[in-house]
Amino acid sequence: MQVIIQPDSEQASLLAAQLIAKIIREKEKPVIGLATGNTPLLLYQLLVKMHREEGLDFSRVISFNLDEYLGLPPEHPGSFHHFMWKNLFSQVNIKPENVHIPDGLTRNIEAHCQQYEEEIKAAGGLDIQVLGLGTDGHIGFNEPSSSLSSRTRIITLFDQTRKDNAIFFESEDQVPYHAITMGIRTILEARICLLMAFGEKKARAISLAVEGPVTTMVPASALQFHPKAISLLDKEAASELRLTDYYQWAYEHQLPEWREF
Ligand code: F6R
Repeated sequence: MQVIIQPDSEQASLLAAQLIAKIIREKEKPVIGLATGNTPLLLYQLLVKMHREEGLDFSRVISFNLDEYLGLPPEHPGSFHHFMWKNLFSQVNIKPENVHIPDGLTRNIEAHCQQYEEEIKAAGGLDIQVLGLGTDGHIGFNEPSSSLSSRTRIITLFDQTRKDNAIFFESEDQVPYHAITMGIRTILEARICLLMAFGEKKARAISLAVEGPVTTMVPASALQFHPKAISLLDKEAASELRLTDYYQWAYEHQLPEWREF
């Protein structure tokens, strides 16, 4: 896994925005996997800015979000539909028919999840998947004990995850107990996995995911199997890593033709 440590989340988000913009510009039909939560907020602001100031064109972009709460209508302020339209989609020229987010109100969860997988395949697979990291090590909503071969499915959230996400709701008891999430196998099939983590709160999960053993107990550790997984961190999130000097050294000595950043 490539580990990139930046002085702060602003500089890290800028690198992420530049990589995604490059994929959008270069690909005929860019397929971008997106996450919600606090971590990618600045990234989305930067992409909106690039759209406005540099004409970054989202009209060919096909997007797939990682997850959605079960039981929430798209207009609910806590839903990931609401989050994505508010923070990104309504401010760029993406075509609504190219946006994919699991349907939290689906009546047939299994069929819907299967269809989501098929839609990703039909689009040509994900060129990049943006990932945040749960304090419990989750990616998407794949909580500890999730199968490393899991596909899009229903999951029961950890109590800690519900607590962490309560800020997007009026009160903690409004946070749903279930969600639909892309599986770990689904995520690992993206051509690039970009794991972003900022702040001291994520330091432990990052050290386990990046330098610990691969285990279902830390779902993000499955990224160690990915040929092109990048962890993009600020200093605080990297503070419990052992090989920080090496990561920095390797970043500074990248072969120009291999550089993503
Ligand atoms: C969100 C998602 C989650 C979050 C994670 C971190 O779509 O899949 O895995 O990325 O819970 O959330 P924040 O960024 O709010 O710390």
